[in-house]
Amino acid sequence: MSGRFTEKVVLVSGGTGGLGRAVSIAFRDEGAKVIVTYRRHEELERLKSAMRGDGLPIEGERVDVTDERAVKQLIDATLLRHGKLDALVNTVGGYAGGVKLWESEADVLDQMLSMNLRSGYVLARAAVPSLIKQGRGAIVNVAAKAAIDHPAGAAAYAASKAAAVAMLDSMAAELRGSGVRVNSILPSIIDTEANRSAIPHANFSKWPKPEEIARVILFLCSDEAKVIHGAAVPVYGGE
Ligand SMILES: NC(=O)c1ccc[n+]([C@@H]2O[C@H](COP(=O)([O-])OP(=O)(O)OC[C@H]3O[C@@H](n4cnc5c(N)ncnc54)[C@H](OP(=O)(O)O)[C@@H]3O)[C@@H](O)[C@H]2O)c1
Repeated sequence: MSGRFTEKVVLVSGGTGGLGRAVSIAFRDEGAKVIVTYRRHEELERLKSAMRGDGLPIEGERVDVTDERAVKQLIDATLLRHGKLDALVNTVGGYAGGVKLWESEADVLDQMLSMNLRSGYVLARAAVPSLIKQGRGAIVNVAAKAAIDHPAGAAAYAASKAAAVAMLDSMAAELRGSGVRVNSILPSIIDTEANRSAIPHANFSKWPKPEEIARVILFLCSDEAKVIHGAAVPVYGGE
């Protein structure tokens, strides 16, 4: 299948998740060689069964993306096998909320920082030196609207997402002129199965679909977006 990403190599961390699955399939449908990280085998199988039509197979690597050594091995193996990495999209993350800061469990902050900040940090540390050597590449880190609009009952989540945006912003300054572009996206609630189960009486038609957000991510990774660097792009429509 040919498309904007033919001959491109794309790594989607968390690529079997609610948003990650749509991102992985969208890249594949536009011709990319896609590698996803996953944690549960059944999620990889689910991703594969959602793929339609012609296209390259998606490669799955079982990796904890907060583990420096495992991520370094993943990046090295990807570069060895495919000779380059054109885009890295980090969709690993998680939410904890509904409880006031002083009433929440003590380990919630560590969990949020690990999933929402450390994931992107470890991935960037492993991948950026090779992207700089290539003189090109794009990174998109999935943050959240809560990074800039801090809701009650989600202090650790909001803080971790705000830190992730700050990290990408700082890295953008470091990468100016290198040919490597880094951007964040800021979703609010997404129409995923998990959210439908958690909030069954909501009006799902108002929630952005994973495929709609995937289109923005692909745009940010494409040459059409070569003037976009260090942005934090809202993807919550007219909410
Ligand atoms: N869904 C929303 O409404 C919403 C709103 C705003 C922002 N976001 C952000 O959007 C991104 C994607 O959300 P989503 O709804 O697609 O979440 P999701 O369905 O839970 O997907 C996240 C994926 O990352 C994996 N993962 C978690 N920790 C990992 C680790 N240490 N190493 C490797 N993989 C790991 C998860 O595996 P397991 O399934 O095994 O845990 C899952 O496959 C996240 O950053 C999230 O914070 C989502």
